[in-house]
Amino acid sequence: MATPRIYITRPLPAPAMKLLEGAAEFRQWDREAEPVPRDVLLREIVDVDGIVCLITEKMDAEVIERARRCRVIAQVAVGYDNIDVDAATRRGILVTNTPGVLTETTADMAWAILMATARRVVEGDKFTRSGRWKTWELMGFTGQDIYGATLGIVGLGRIGAAIARRSAGFKMPLLYHNRRRAEALEQELGAAYRPLDDLLRESDFVVLATALTPETRHLIGERELGLMKPTAVLVNISRGPVIDQRALYRALVDRKIWAAGLDVFETEPVPMDDPLLRLDNVVIPPHLGSASIATRTKMATMAVENCLAGVTGRIPPNLVNPGAMESR
Ligand code: GLV
Repeated sequence: MATPRIYITRPLPAPAMKLLEGAAEFRQWDREAEPVPRDVLLREIVDVDGIVCLITEKMDAEVIERARRCRVIAQVAVGYDNIDVDAATRRGILVTNTPGVLTETTADMAWAILMATARRVVEGDKFTRSGRWKTWELMGFTGQDIYGATLGIVGLGRIGAAIARRSAGFKMPLLYHNRRRAEALEQELGAAYRPLDDLLRESDFVVLATALTPETRHLIGERELGLMKPTAVLVNISRGPVIDQRALYRALVDRKIWAAGLDVFETEPVPMDDPLLRLDNVVIPPHLGSASIATRTKMATMAVENCLAGVTGRIPPNLVNPGAMESR
């Protein structure tokens, strides 16, 4: 069998690159902090057997059509809404992701954002650095209590459940909303199922941990924000478009809700003229959910393993579209 050829859309950590030695020929976009330009991507993928890509690449029908020899697209992320999976499936291209390995790291980040937002950590840090800290003020930078508050999780999948497990130490009543009831988790976590509207009405903290699908796009809009408590904090660890951010801006300005922590944004990178950037009661890390050194390294090695399996005719461990095998 000829040596398979792979295109990799970003530098990967050394353990992932090592897996390629002797196993495949590869070309790679070599800039860490800049995504591969569309025209380069379209050119590079024409003759490869497999592609390793990040969420920054729009793997749409055009890319998929151009990748004439491609057998597998291996995404370095658990979410894959940037890939037109139906187009890939029709062409018999396997699509893979990196589930499981990032669950705990992402749950940690949801909590980091929740606490930073509730207790105004980022705002306070900016204040200290600005030299405006003149005295200890009794009510200065006061926030919302976490201990004993009600936590509502939208999307009780792997990450949602890991976020929920961490709440035990804070003695938080736990609510969840999910497409399907998760009875086993209800037992394990002591979580109570709620229709979305009820969860929004009752929760002090609402954490979005759902995948982005046509059903969840703008799941949280003006009406839903209007149901939340004026003291509530909204945290998004899933994908930006799950929230209608124009409606969120209005809700924050009008004090319909208290604050928001957004690890993900409707448009990434965040446009510098986005009005949410002007608000102090919003925390916006640059999509860092899975960003620990160990986890990002594991994600990259997993994606390379998936890709090597796909280009050598094996079934990749993390295949998301088994239907593609029937289209071959
Ligand atoms: C990151 O956002 C991921 O989906 O893994």
